[in-house]
Amino acid sequence: KAVALAAGAIGKDGYRHYMEKELHEHPSVIGQTLRRMLDPATRQVVLPELPFDLATIPRITMTACGSAYYAGLVGRHWLESIARLPTDADVASELRYREPPLPEGGLGLLISQSGETADTLAALRGLHGAGQHVLSVLNVPESTMARESDAVLETVAGPEICVASTKAFTAQLCVLACLAIATGTARGTLGEERAGALTAALTDLPGRASELLTLREDIQAMAQVVAEARDVLYLGRGAAFPIALEGALKLKEISYIHAEAYAAGEMKHGPIALIDRTVPVVAIAPGGRLFEKTASNLQEAKARGARILAFTDADGAPKLLNIAEQIVVVPTVDPFVAPILHAIAVQMLAYEVALLKGTDVDQPRNLAKSVTVE
Ligand code: AGP
Repeated sequence: KAVALAAGAIGKDGYRHYMEKELHEHPSVIGQTLRRMLDPATRQVVLPELPFDLATIPRITMTACGSAYYAGLVGRHWLESIARLPTDADVASELRYREPPLPEGGLGLLISQSGETADTLAALRGLHGAGQHVLSVLNVPESTMARESDAVLETVAGPEICVASTKAFTAQLCVLACLAIATGTARGTLGEERAGALTAALTDLPGRASELLTLREDIQAMAQVVAEARDVLYLGRGAAFPIALEGALKLKEISYIHAEAYAAGEMKHGPIALIDRTVPVVAIAPGGRLFEKTASNLQEAKARGARILAFTDADGAPKLLNIAEQIVVVPTVDPFVAPILHAIAVQMLAYEVALLKGTDVDQPRNLAKSVTVE
């Protein structure tokens, strides 16, 4: 109801769908979310006052649902690689019934656009009941989860009307990136120089996101291939694997085409049996230390007849010329922030495919914006 009211009050500003409008808000939302987290003078991450010490938290238990969970998986990657902090991850509908052993003084990290998702709220209460500190990344500061959290880190995405989450997702990633930097600094695992490089990469993002939004025609060409498929595979490694999961989910929820995401290294353990010309492979292959590995997985898939559609950057593009049928060259950014940019790219692809399929982009069948019941 709140979303419907908000939709009434908030127009599409001339865009065809709320999703198209919200895709185009990525640059401003990334900028305004980061401004909330970064000191403009020093460009250092400044978190709100927290009722616990990030330097002494022994372990994080991260939980969410759907796209928010995939954002959390990227966050886990950063928290473990930058802050060296062990971080468990599980979807809320599993965690709430699993009762995992939790350390004294551990931190529950919950991510939710609405702050009302039943499973995530239940998991929050379970973590609190197990004596964990509770930190929530939320887009609605007056939500139920906000009231029940020990601390909140806000995504500044504004009301998100489209059922498929877009701008809130990248805002969640920005908040999680800042949390990882702040935690690494607090724990002494991140030096000042590297912290500065990471925050510089973040502050450069709005411009790169605007550049990416101009690549609509390249993405429309890729959508032509995907729209004809019954089944699509998304592949990624490392922090790009959760972006493959996000891309597959977006395609499913707004175009109704079946899609699965795999860690690219997993293909040879079974899924490669699915490969033939009718199953396009969408690769999320940003530059970085895992690029070559991903490229060889794509070569394996191509050798079995797969049509490879790749998102990569200027460094990767020449190396995929003989592998990929289509390449969208995403602006080159520090590998640390590449997942945020590639998230926008896979959301744009899902939107273009949904247009070709003629589905109800903003209100897909069977879906609700916030799943407030189990
Ligand atoms: C995302 O596109 C979906 N609409 C869905 O997976 C969503 O992310 C999930 O239901 C979690 O919602 P929340 O962020 O409001 O908790």
